[in-house]
Amino acid sequence: MAVSSRAGSRVQNPYSSLPDWLYPANVVFWLGLFVVYATVVVLFEKTGRYGPYLSPFFSPEINLRLGSFLIPPAIWVAWAPLAFRLTCYYYRKAYFRSFLWHPRSCASDEPKRGTYRGETRFWIFNNLHRYAFYAIFIQTLFLWYDVIAGVVQHHQLGAVLGFGNLLMLVNVLALSGYTYGCHAFRHLAGGGLDCLSCNRFRLTLWKGVTVLNVRHDRWAWVSMFTVWGTDVYIRLLAHGVLPHAAWV
Ligand code: FES
Repeated sequence: MAVSSRAGSRVQNPYSSLPDWLYPANVVFWLGLFVVYATVVVLFEKTGRYGPYLSPFFSPEINLRLGSFLIPPAIWVAWAPLAFRLTCYYYRKAYFRSFLWHPRSCASDEPKRGTYRGETRFWIFNNLHRYAFYAIFIQTLFLWYDVIAGVVQHHQLGAVLGFGNLLMLVNVLALSGYTYGCHAFRHLAGGGLDCLSCNRFRLTLWKGVTVLNVRHDRWAWVSMFTVWGTDVYIRLLAHGVLPHAAWV
């Protein structure tokens, strides 16, 4: 939480000695860079596969052609994580505060006071988050399948475990931590009941989701970087920047 004086725009965070600009600057830099990278990959890359490895941007693999034109395969996939992260409760806080400064933070003056209307009008689309969760829940299952299929394929090539297999595994673990800690999933697990403790299954599920939900912001960032890193590694292999000689 931050406090400020009405007289000026100085914001002092009583819980951190770090400069106030550090968090929003990092959000703008890393999130902005990721969005640019993801846009280029989704629109201009034709494949995310290298042998047994498959980039999370391209899972599930869908190759459709209009005549001789291959529709960028990642387009069929990208809408789900885009909708999921754009409407995520944590990312909403991050981009409202960092990109828009609107609101800037809890308990601090707005640069333009009186114009903040919450998530109404254009921002009403954020209410679709639970539907994005359904889509991403299914996509996570595809990613788990890719990890298992990649390991099996790797063995068939006579190799043990490749670095790409490990990256894909770490990525799906991070994405699962992020997805299954979603606030909408927590509500699905424990909401709408008069007596949660009367339903043992839902209580256990709710507790499990809550464990992940407590650090939802961390899972959000870690999973973004694992998606990014996994794609970069597979892309470097596919473009011949890293050696093709061994299934590394
Ligand atoms: Fe962040 Fe649902 S609230 S993914």
